[in-house]
Amino acid sequence: MGHLVSVDNLTDSDLEDLFRRADVFHRSRQQAPDRLDRRLLAVLFYEPSTRTRLSFESAILRLGGQVLGFSDAGSSSVAKGETVADTIRMVAAYADAVVMRHPAAGSTQVAAEYTELPLVSGGDGAHLHPTQTLTDLYYLRQTKGAIEDLTVAVAGDLHAGRTVHSLATALARLGARIVCVAPQGLTMPDYVVDEVQERFGGRIDSVDRLEDCLDEADVIYMTRLQRERLPESLRHVEIPRVDAEMLSKMRPDTIILHPLPRVDEIAYEVDEDLRAGYFEQAAGGVTVRMALLDLMLADETFATGQRPFKPVTPKESYARCDNPGCITHRETYVPHRPVVTDWSPDQPRCAWCEHPLVQGVLDLERD
Ligand code: NCD
Repeated sequence: MGHLVSVDNLTDSDLEDLFRRADVFHRSRQQAPDRLDRRLLAVLFYEPSTRTRLSFESAILRLGGQVLGFSDAGSSSVAKGETVADTIRMVAAYADAVVMRHPAAGSTQVAAEYTELPLVSGGDGAHLHPTQTLTDLYYLRQTKGAIEDLTVAVAGDLHAGRTVHSLATALARLGARIVCVAPQGLTMPDYVVDEVQERFGGRIDSVDRLEDCLDEADVIYMTRLQRERLPESLRHVEIPRVDAEMLSKMRPDTIILHPLPRVDEIAYEVDEDLRAGYFEQAAGGVTVRMALLDLMLADETFATGQRPFKPVTPKESYARCDNPGCITHRETYVPHRPVVTDWSPDQPRCAWCEHPLVQGVLDLERD
């Protein structure tokens, strides 16, 4: 069975199948009560969530399945120190598929390696959020027809916000252009920029203010400051905001999206504007997740694509990951795993969280 921890797990034809199936569920008004009769979905949420968890729960229930799990890790054995690996091994006996959200980058990949069940990431720390991206792409397909050649401005906290990492690479894969609007210290990580440019030959530019890209943006994707993941010095920086005045400067056909929750990045007065797409975007999350569960549980070949990472050896000659948000810092059984990619052969990265690793550290120490 496949896993979905990155959009890389989906081939181009998987993506097409997914969107086509989502169209079917959209047309049936999300009524398909016999599709996954009595199948059980375990929903393991180690971090707060409203939309992702509820839309997965709604999706499995609308397909005729059932749901179990936790949304407060404090009420599960995690509070006693149980690891991701042990929790996931045990869940295999209780369910037919798993959705998991966890605060550490790479945690969902670790979980996927400890289970035969189809496992879907609902977000791993500041790293990736593939099903939000599928929701975003589906909405864009429905409203703009095609994704190729769109210009999408992504604005806000591009550093610690995981939705924009999955989204930027997926957009580049499908031929869209990206414009980043982020304050200093919260810009898009290098591994995302490299992947957009070097792997997909895509275009990713940066501007200082939202006003600087209003003429070209077909879509403006707003995000909040991820205060819970940021150091004190960055918790109160000013990020781009859309309000009535900004609306008056925007093109009449630009769509405003947001993965939600919004804090203050979009003023309430924007909600009534026809360009505000975020609530409809979130509603489509149920349809997309119905299609995803339906395919993952029925088709063994679906979502079996691999991340294009190549192990580099000897791994001891690369420093261990120094990203404090990486799963290797929380769970000590997770191996140090340096990898390279075809588009970045000289820059080893941590296979779990994708942060760059320093080369030759042990050799230097020996000298
Ligand atoms: C996002 C998340 O959890 O990454 N929310 C979501 O799933 N729609 C965005 C956020 O928390 O800012």
